[in-house]
Amino acid sequence: MEQDIQEVLYSREYLEGIVEKLGRRISEDYRGKDLLMVSILKGSVVFMADLMRAITIPCSIDFMSVSSYGSGTKTSGVVKIIKDLDINLEGRDLLLVEDILDSGMTLHYIRDMLSQRHPNSIRICTLFDKPERRSVDITADYFGAVVPDAFIVGYGLDYDEKYRNLPYVGILKPEVYEK
Ligand code: IMP
Ligand code: MG
Repeated sequence: MEQDIQEVLYSREYLEGIVEKLGRRISEDYRGKDLLMVSILKGSVVFMADLMRAITIPCSIDFMSVSSYGSGTKTSGVVKIIKDLDINLEGRDLLLVEDILDSGMTLHYIRDMLSQRHPNSIRICTLFDKPERRSVDITADYFGAVVPDAFIVGYGLDYDEKYRNLPYVGILKPEVYEK
């Protein structure tokens, strides 16, 4: 795995710091609310696991699985629900937890769909943001870091289902996906 990484962007320690700060802010903002964290599988699972432990107020969690990517590095624009939420959203304060906001199409679709289930509020928390690549009008309420327009892997992010278990985030060598 290591030999496919061009450059390490965020070390394990740096990521810890980012997540700690986000957890503190979210805990303050959601005090007295009915926080439900929704992890968009699978990319956000590592971030979610760390973020929920950095949150100091009561919260529930749920998971949703969608697919829009296939094995390429660009979004297909078609979002398919593979696993829906188990929890009733009525009156809940939803925080959608994503690994990376790229074109924005995935979260745009999910947010619209979930807003029809009458939650009290919906916000977006993404670990990484690639604002240069946005093709729909969507912004994150919370983000960990803005990343350059390169394909990154690790800490949950994959290429073709690999590299999710790297404890750091790095840029994947283009020759890996140009092959
Ligand atoms: P969007 O719909 O284009 O915003 O796609 C967001 C999804 O694309 C993320 O949840 C990731 O699964 C995937 N993605 C986008 N950019 C990257 C990247 O640089 N590395 C790994 N996955 C990415
Ligand atoms: Mg993903």
